Amino acid sequence: MRIILLGPPGAGKGTLAKLLKEALNIAHISTGDILREEMKNQTPLGMEIKKLVESGALVPDEIVTKIIENKLTANKNGAQGYMLDGFPRTKVQAEQLDAILTKIRHPIDVALYMEASVPVIIQRLTGRRVCKKCGAPFHIKNRPPKKQDICDLCGGELYQRPDDNEETIRKRMKVYLESTAPIVDYYHAQRKLVKVDADKESEILKDELMQLFNDQGKASHKSGHGPLKSS
Ligand code: AP5
Repeated sequence: MRIILLGPPGAGKGTLAKLLKEALNIAHISTGDILREEMKNQTPLGMEIKKLVESGALVPDEIVTKIIENKLTANKNGAQGYMLDGFPRTKVQAEQLDAILTKIRHPIDVALYMEASVPVIIQRLTGRRVCKKCGAPFHIKNRPPKKQDICDLCGGELYQRPDDNEETIRKRMKVYLESTAPIVDYYHAQRKLVKVDADKESEILKDELMQLFNDQGKASHKSGHGPLKSS
């Protein structure tokens, strides 16, 4: 399957992607993770984008689109599938993605729109901790690590993202509403949109989605199943 994960910051895109990656055996491509890796390694690109990312602004379209184009054209398993997490984030990126997918003949099956409420988003992001080594997301209340500040999966040190403070979260929400929310309509018009209630626990969400995907072979424009809605 080829899936786009859409939704506000803190909707749980990265968390759900890690669960679906296991369940569906498909790649997880996160532009946020790729950009943070560039910053961590202090590459020329990392230095160029650091201020933008840490202030909650978007990185220019041409930079992220190029990253995604390289990933997708290098991805020999494209036919088996992938999840794009955090891309596209603007209408221009959505149009550029369509052009790339037409070229490589791997259209997406589903744009999964993860709708979450503002108090849930703030609670999730202010309490998030991420592993420095493997990137696994934790939460001080919702998903605490067994040992404080240590990753359960690889033993790496957990840290708080610099853009996970309340002021920057509000800026990211504003950017999301202005630039990213409009592309929900873009995928609705293509009949690829599946809307989910992302306030729910991520394991429950994963199980509901797996049921939908199994029932439909692949979830595309057909009508929704149970609590999930296709639109
Ligand atoms: P990115 O890393 O994509 O950030 P984001 O979209 O703001 O999303 P987050 O990673 O903050 O949240 P998430 O939805 O993945 O939530 P998570 O699963 O971690 O982008 C960062 C920056 O990079 C951008 O601001 C921009 O500067 C730049 N960038 C990236 N892509 C770009 C693009 N295409 N164009 C331009 N610029 C780009 O969960 C959050 C927390 O909640 C965790 O602690 C988790 O444990 C907990 N949690 C998750 N789900 C649940 C649940 N269901 N129940 C309880 N707790 C949960």
